[in-house]
Amino acid sequence: MVYAAHQNAGVDGVEGGVGLTALLVAAARAIETYRPDSLARDVYAEHFVRAAPASATWPVRIQQVPDGDANPLWGRFARYFGLRTRVLDDFLLRSAHAGGARQVVLLGAGLDARAFRLDWPPDCVIYEIDREGVLAFKHQVLDGLPDVPKARRVPLPCDLRGDWAGALTGAGFDPAAPTVWLAEGLLFYLPTATETRLLDTVDRLSAAGSALGYEVKLEKDLLAYRDSPLYTSTRRQLGIDLLRLFDSDPRPDSAGALAGRGWSTSVHTPFEFSRRHGRGPLPEPNDALAGNRWVFADRPRP
Ligand SMILES: C[S@@+](CC[C@H](N)C(=O)[O-])C[C@H]1O[C@@H](n2cnc3c(N)ncnc32)[C@H](O)[C@@H]1O
Repeated sequence: MVYAAHQNAGVDGVEGGVGLTALLVAAARAIETYRPDSLARDVYAEHFVRAAPASATWPVRIQQVPDGDANPLWGRFARYFGLRTRVLDDFLLRSAHAGGARQVVLLGAGLDARAFRLDWPPDCVIYEIDREGVLAFKHQVLDGLPDVPKARRVPLPCDLRGDWAGALTGAGFDPAAPTVWLAEGLLFYLPTATETRLLDTVDRLSAAGSALGYEVKLEKDLLAYRDSPLYTSTRRQLGIDLLRLFDSDPRPDSAGALAGRGWSTSVHTPFEFSRRHGRGPLPEPNDALAGNRWVFADRPRP
């Protein structure tokens, strides 16, 4: 069955538009969880996928995909999300445990269940920012499970195009304490000016010792890959046209801007981590992942 996701582009929850992409990532995490050589485990992902009518029939195990790993969406693309989850799990835990940050802010948190999945330091607080409809769906599912979060969790229903900083500080966030920030699968949906403003705000609210991880797409022309197997299979199998959801503005040099403000930054292709872990996507022709970069930034202590 094909779902016409774009017809619901204005929907605030997970049933349409960019909210539906949170379910896509959740399905990929469920599949990754049950691979014998899994890179990341997320036992909550499957519950989200099954609970939403839009995704209730999507696969949550690679064995449920007739062509298995040969399927560009549920094979290679899902493995990309599995790798991304693992790399960002490692970044967050390293920043909280070794780096000493005790505040975590998940920007565009979607169905990220890290508050429940990961072993946080005892005094850690996790702020989850996303749109109201997405968080309402997340709570409806989580409330039906017996599990409790492994850190204090503060959901903040906000539009990241508005004054989310006021909501964050109003909820107890302390700009004088080090923070670890994450923008996973978010920035390419936002207009350039919003990305710039969002990272300006992160910079303003980050004490020394803070860290930031985020994902960008650097290709000059997104449409150059419109016929790539990842995009065509996502469109054909799920009705999600990622290229219509991505913002088409030229992207800002956010890593350069952070470096200019004294952050130390490193920019990586996902393929570097595939090689490091011995599994995950590797480059291929006409590759929708060619421009993807994972950026890590640290604000040094004096
Ligand atoms: C692809 S999902 C990624 C979710 C999560 N970070 C993950 O990797 O599982 C993108 C998320 O960004 C959220 N998002 C997009 N634009 C937003 C905005 N303007 N304000 C708040 N959240 C937004 C969507 O609702 C969605 O949950």
